[in-house]
Amino acid sequence: ALAALEQRFARTIAADHRIEPRDWMPDAYRRTLIRQIAQHAHSEIIGMQPEGNWISRAPSLRRKAILLAKVQDEAGHGLYLYAATETLGADRADLTRKLIEGRQRYSSIFNYPTLTFADVGVIGWLVDGAAICNQVPLCRTSYGPYARAMIRICKEESFHQRQGYELLLTMMSGTEQQRRMVQEATDRWWWPALMMFGPPDADSPNTAQSMAWRIKRDTNDELRQKFVDMTVPQAEKLGVTLPDPELRWNPERGHYDFGTPDWAEFKQVLAGNGPCNAQRLAHRRRAHEDGAWVREAASAYAAKQAARAAA
Ligand code: ACO
Repeated sequence: ALAALEQRFARTIAADHRIEPRDWMPDAYRRTLIRQIAQHAHSEIIGMQPEGNWISRAPSLRRKAILLAKVQDEAGHGLYLYAATETLGADRADLTRKLIEGRQRYSSIFNYPTLTFADVGVIGWLVDGAAICNQVPLCRTSYGPYARAMIRICKEESFHQRQGYELLLTMMSGTEQQRRMVQEATDRWWWPALMMFGPPDADSPNTAQSMAWRIKRDTNDELRQKFVDMTVPQAEKLGVTLPDPELRWNPERGHYDFGTPDWAEFKQVLAGNGPCNAQRLAHRRRAHEDGAWVREAASAYAAKQAARAAA
């Protein structure tokens, strides 16, 4: 009987159809999805902090309204993704506990500080740009609820990317000091943005199996290359330099060649030693503790409603 289930699963994947919550799936497929989707959800939630830092100091009402909307979208993305893990049998409270105890990952990128308002623009342009590059193919990931969540998320990410790029275009047509701020923020975020795609394929323990299961549709290095190729012309239009002396067009390959990210730094950030890891987790832990009364009140209300319904 198990062989028949395994065959059906393999046929569904091979036909590029979706696996749905009630379908049989291998335990390792379920575990990989829970790991990746939970990490993705945690990234959206922790990702509210670096930009949230600027909401109260946005330079105009318009910028503040845009930034508020964007940070709220990220909370929404986190919630759709936690809901997707629940269709796999995960428990959201358990995932949150694992996050605040440092037992589950979130994206390395959110462990860097936002030093000036130009960072808000550069995060939209590069970080959300990288997120789109990674997530558009995930609209075709093999697990149905994850694929469907990605469709809406990508539409919103595309708004985030554009608001960032538009903010930067505005700053670049401003004063010399504003242009310097944009360049300086680009210099700080470029390499961490390339690290978002994960380790090189040769050092990526999960890629081969996730590609075979069609959870991932492209490898880490393929997506990193795609991101560099799409970003270089945007940098030129903006009038900033990307901080990589090895960056140049390679006509034979039909792609840009680029330098190697500092993988030792990436490992340090993953190990919890990035510039803001401790601060991000402490903030998330505090928000969770401060919200305890809301969870208690909601549970008490639900229990009362259930008792009333039973009476
Ligand atoms: N930051 C933190 N952890 C990372 C990163 C990163 N940038 N890249 C890889 N890792 C982790 C992996 O989760 C994996 O963890 P493990 O030790 O628990 O297995 C380990 O490093 C090895 O990496 P891979 O084998 O390459 O892992 P994977 O196949 O999961 O690929 C990737 C990593 C590309 C990030 C994939 O999980 C993915 O596409 N996730 C969905 C997108 C996502 O999470 N985006 C979040 C940032 S974008 C945003 O939220 C705005």
